Amino acid sequence: MTTVDLPLLPLGRGTDPNTERGVECPGDLPPASDPTLVERARAAKEKLGDRVFVLGHHYQRDEVIQFADVTGDSFKLARDAAARPDAEFIVFCGVHFMAESADILTTDAQQVVLPDLAAGCSMADMAALTQVEAAWDALAAAGVADRVVPVTYMNSTADIKAFCGRNGGVVCTSSNAETALRWAFDQHEDAKILFLPDQHLGRNTAVLQLGFSLDECVVWNPHRPNGGLTAEQIDGARMILWQGHCSVHGRFSEDVVDALRAQDPDLTVIVHPECKHEVVTRADMVGSTEFIIKAIEAAEPGTHWAIGTELNLVKRLADSRPDLNISFLDRNVCYCSTMNRIDLPHLVRSLESLAEGVVVNRIEVDPTTQAEAKVALDRMLALPGTGAVRG
Ligand code: 13P
Ligand code: SF4
Repeated sequence: MTTVDLPLLPLGRGTDPNTERGVECPGDLPPASDPTLVERARAAKEKLGDRVFVLGHHYQRDEVIQFADVTGDSFKLARDAAARPDAEFIVFCGVHFMAESADILTTDAQQVVLPDLAAGCSMADMAALTQVEAAWDALAAAGVADRVVPVTYMNSTADIKAFCGRNGGVVCTSSNAETALRWAFDQHEDAKILFLPDQHLGRNTAVLQLGFSLDECVVWNPHRPNGGLTAEQIDGARMILWQGHCSVHGRFSEDVVDALRAQDPDLTVIVHPECKHEVVTRADMVGSTEFIIKAIEAAEPGTHWAIGTELNLVKRLADSRPDLNISFLDRNVCYCSTMNRIDLPHLVRSLESLAEGVVVNRIEVDPTTQAEAKVALDRMLALPGTGAVRG
């Protein structure tokens, strides 16, 4: 029914130059060609028993997801990690900022492992602490910092979460961004929000859920003096959006949505709120990965869907519902290259090392950052409800 079919290419092993950390990982990495990898992972996990808890983000490869004790979006996984104080080791199959959050939310006795330290996130790397502190100083000089509430997307480094914690702010995820923004606007009369680091989630939530106009949202460019904004623009803004984006969701385009709709009037387009505003406003449904999964699970047999989120998840959804007609919303293959770094060899090395008493690739946030970031994360976890941007 569509010209943009779900690509059936083998999973790639790309690297992302933006997040390639060049970190040497200790311990032997088994070759991907080893036919016993599945058996080795199973044996090591069995040996560890309840001592290990494996978390898998929805964008992980199938070969990894099969060993996850729980799967979820970043909000669910943060809660799941916090709910297992008995597990000695948390193996986080996801990216670096998620493992940091798990370390912050678990006890000091627990150790969090990221199977490949190069699994970063280009969006998280777009907001460095020095840049955010410089922006805060500029907002103070403009006379507005005392009514600016910093809100950071979960997809940020621990020191950005700590910045929000010590400056009266909060963390949010794509599941609870609306609630977090409403909370932030309630903190001061005539409040403004500095939204980090994903301009698209911030804009989509502010405009589609809170009813702000696009003119009330300005973009802070960290590479320009005063974010590239005039004093009037800063004064008139309700949402100051950091100029960051997801390199995966930023690829989906309004042209493809329009072309698909022209070919198939029965199509339902569902996208993640990290997509551009022009894409989100053309979609029928918008929400976090967890929301997208539930929508596909509940879909009427025979219905037609185009999905705008990471390809590992879209392929898994298409496999799980052969009775639906599911397309990928991009003309090209579009995996998150850093999520894809966690593969079976890395997972086997993590589990076997732990089973032998060696912790490889531990993620440990320093105590001060941890305490301040936990303030902002706990504020998020205390917010009521989760949901869709539009559905
Ligand atoms: P969620 O897990 O919040 O849906 O975010 C998607 C994502 O890009 C994770 O890196
Ligand atoms: Fe980061 Fe986007 Fe990959 Fe998520 S999908 S880890 S936001 S680059």
